[in-house]
Amino acid sequence: MTEDLRCAIALFLAAGLAVVGSGCDAFTSNAPERPSDPVRAGGETTIESATANAFTFPSANLSEDALEKHQAGDVAFEATFVSAPAAVNGGLGPAFSNASCEACHPANGRSRQILAHISQPGGGPHGGPKSVDGFGPTLEEHAIVGYENEADLNVTYRDSVVSLSGGETATLRVPSYSVENAYRPFPSNAMISPRTALPVIGLGLLEAIPPSTLRRYAREQAADDDAVTGEVNMVWNETEQEMQVGRFGWKATAPTLRQQTAGAYHSDMGVTSPLRPTENGAGQPPHEEADSLDNDPEVTAQTVDEATFYVQSLGVPARRNTDDPMVQRGEDLFTEIGCATCHRPTAESGRLESVPSVSTQRFAPYTDLLLHDMGPALTDGRPTFDASGREWRTPPLWGLGLRDLIQGHNELLHDGRAQSIREAILWHGGEAEPARERFRTKLTPEERDNLVAFLRSL
Ligand code: HEC
Ligand code: HEC
Repeated sequence: MTEDLRCAIALFLAAGLAVVGSGCDAFTSNAPERPSDPVRAGGETTIESATANAFTFPSANLSEDALEKHQAGDVAFEATFVSAPAAVNGGLGPAFSNASCEACHPANGRSRQILAHISQPGGGPHGGPKSVDGFGPTLEEHAIVGYENEADLNVTYRDSVVSLSGGETATLRVPSYSVENAYRPFPSNAMISPRTALPVIGLGLLEAIPPSTLRRYAREQAADDDAVTGEVNMVWNETEQEMQVGRFGWKATAPTLRQQTAGAYHSDMGVTSPLRPTENGAGQPPHEEADSLDNDPEVTAQTVDEATFYVQSLGVPARRNTDDPMVQRGEDLFTEIGCATCHRPTAESGRLESVPSVSTQRFAPYTDLLLHDMGPALTDGRPTFDASGREWRTPPLWGLGLRDLIQGHNELLHDGRAQSIREAILWHGGEAEPARERFRTKLTPEERDNLVAFLRSL
């Protein structure tokens, strides 16, 4: 149906009826005025693309030198590691989850691969997780020739049907995880936190938000009388040797992108660096033997820095369809039903030394980077630093509407259990339960469509 025809019908129906959320200009006169200069998704880093490559462009505002460094980082990000000895990119494993950054973050989005962070009860160093004897921080499902993988992660799903107002239903898949074929006994009290990768766009901007801003968000949420009370995660900075505000990963466990990147080389690929010089899974005899296979460390600090710079300097795609009345109505609903409290539309960065392109920007990430209790259905039962099993960091929503095109799937939430935006919303609980219930029971089917149309414009 054309927009005009739809409006004509709606006008006709409106005689004597209060029409809410019809999506026509005629009915949106009460909507808040839209700023004539709306905040661009990535501030000056924003790029114009709505294609399957939309997450792969450098920030629009890079200097020539920065662009060169970005391109070196791109090479590092795409490099596929092989087992040593090898002429280039040796040092994979001995145990690993995948062989390149790109494999888990295809086209800089997220793959379907689920990997499990593992620990056992009790505190580890600096209040972080305590590792499982004989295993690394991530359960490694692969190994190079001559070595055993640590174990297999098995997942099965059962369906759960949810009803929504207006006679609609949705089917959620409820996952259940188990560890099988462990190379040595896997303790029955070990805790597993299944995760899929996150898109890597716009991360320099998030890194450049001052810690004081995140603390202010938390204070503001605590002062409100709604259910939302986000908190910062305080985590260990391995280079600075001090506790800092965490912001990366599904539970905000990495304080910087450099630490996240060094951790990815180490724990996801089994590649050592000067930042993480000891082979992953220390305590497992075959791993120690493997150390002597290659010249350690297996990548230089420069390579870690280049890969880090790459994710700090990717552009964020501009929003699309912002003039569509359905999208605009959905944007209003996003705030009205309480989504914007956690998925904060805008943010301002301070200065990030070495990445001028992300410094002092105003941008629209749709996150507060804080931890929130998301209820029992989403818990992994595995605390890490200040994050309890039920707590997760609000993920940014920029680029959300392009992800299915880029990735070939639209799996959402920390373990990819949701297969659409609507399913992801219906899984929200805990602090987000009031917002979810408004979505589920108060909105009409058409309003839900408007909200999703808005989210797809991001
Ligand atoms: C085996 C799969 C895998 C590989 C290989 C991998 N990643 Fe990741 N990546 C993940 C997962 C899973 C997460 C979420 C981690 C968490 O929640 O702690 C993640 C998170 C990230 C984040 C944080 C994003 C955010 O929004 O907080 C960055 C940055 C990142 N990866 C960069 C890299 C880089 C750089 C490499 C290569 C050096 C790499 N990754 C290799 C799976 C992978
Ligand atoms: C209390 C804070 C909070 C509120 C309120 C909230 N969210 Fe979320 N949202 C989160 C967190 C935390 C996650 C990640 C949960 C997980 O992965 O287990 C999330 C995940 C998502 C995702 C999936 C993102 C991804 O990359 O996988 C979408 C989409 C989303 N939220 C949309 C919404 C919408 C729409 C609303 C309003 C109906 C809403 N959220 C309300 C905190 C919140």
